[in-house]
Amino acid sequence: MRVLVIGSGGREHALAWKIAQSPLLSKLFIAPGNGGTGEIAENVALDITDHASVIALCQAEKIDFVVVGPDAQVVAGLGDDVRAAGFDCFCPSKAAGQLEGSKGFTKALCDEMGIPTAAYDRFDNEAAALAYLYAQGAPIVIKADGLAAGKGVTVAMSVEEAEAAIIDCFAGAFGQSGAEVVIEEFMEGEEVSLFVLCDGADILPLTTAQDHKRAFDGDIGPNTGGMGAYSPAPVMTPDIYQETLDRVIWPTVRGLAARGTPYQGVLYAGLMLTATGPRLVEYNARFGDPETQVMVMRMASDILPLLHATAKGTLAGHDVVWKDQYALTIIMATKGYPGSYSKGSEIAGAATAGSDHVHVFHAGTRRDGARLLAEGGRVLNVTALGSSILEAQQRVYAGVDKIVWPEGFCRRDIGWRELARSGV
Ligand code: AMP
Ligand code: GLY
Repeated sequence: MRVLVIGSGGREHALAWKIAQSPLLSKLFIAPGNGGTGEIAENVALDITDHASVIALCQAEKIDFVVVGPDAQVVAGLGDDVRAAGFDCFCPSKAAGQLEGSKGFTKALCDEMGIPTAAYDRFDNEAAALAYLYAQGAPIVIKADGLAAGKGVTVAMSVEEAEAAIIDCFAGAFGQSGAEVVIEEFMEGEEVSLFVLCDGADILPLTTAQDHKRAFDGDIGPNTGGMGAYSPAPVMTPDIYQETLDRVIWPTVRGLAARGTPYQGVLYAGLMLTATGPRLVEYNARFGDPETQVMVMRMASDILPLLHATAKGTLAGHDVVWKDQYALTIIMATKGYPGSYSKGSEIAGAATAGSDHVHVFHAGTRRDGARLLAEGGRVLNVTALGSSILEAQQRVYAGVDKIVWPEGFCRRDIGWRELARSGV
């Protein structure tokens, strides 16, 4: 099978790395890829927002299967266009992708299907939003309705903070994504993510992970796309897992199918484990970044037939096997991320950080001859397997310490909740 992966982040490097191990693969392309993906796939410089260019590449290279990574391409309907051109594609339809693209869409589905989530209201003007805020009080959560790279959410502990977030949103801080604002009840609990393949009718649950969204140690600082993760997340006990499938995942899959917009792709449920059970925080219509990095390290099965069966509606009968190990990843980011940061700083030692148990996935990197340069906010994902979360964490940081990059930073406490629980 000739496969094209779309994207350039750590998630896409991880997907490509895993796909590259499939005996079904004959040739792997990645567009546009990054400074690490060229070792396992052919990087193709391409503007992935231009769907006609993607289709032209599929035709020129006789691609059998396209795997779309990033949310922006899901929401833009790249999957629909690639399929319309006659190619198999792992990517939900634009209609089903609204699960991620519009928080209001997901909230309406939750109402319709009785899926447990935070109470909310939606506003298209500042005065009404502020009036609702004053009536509700704090803590409260303010969200830009559209996509904002994980940065459009303010968990406000005070009315003043919420007020500022509402004013910012309507003032255009998130562009068109902030033209509508969702105000939500604050849910108290621990967050966990569940990943489920869904072929429109059948599901194949993958696994759990816990991300660390804040920029700095101790879960402080601004929200980011994710600074580190581990998998599986033991906080999701078998009972909670089953409850989540029954009360969240299945109603979503059935609700979308009943609406005539079946979901085909990976369903990424962000959940809050509250005193009254698991409640949905949000859906993403694609794999997580950096959760994919830990998932692929743990996956013993061949990923390619699973992704293909998801896209073709033939998941029934497929199973997935995991290594009996934990995986943990940390993000090395350019100083300043998620705010403004420099580009072009040199990274040394990345190639020496890997070992039998450790793999370095690239995100915002670029090669310049023999030099490796940082090109983005999130830049490298040092990922390790271990028999415990602690062992995986120790292996990750041993890898990180081999990397010399004065312009970079990372969190030093990824996995802390689970380590605290297990008394480490
Ligand atoms: P989202 O982009 O919707 O995932 O929100 C980003 C982060 O904000 C989530 O991962 C949570 O940590 C937090 N968050 C979002 N909604 C709520 C909520 N209703 N209650 C508490 N925390 C929330
Ligand atoms: N790690 C968070 C995300 O992929 O949205």
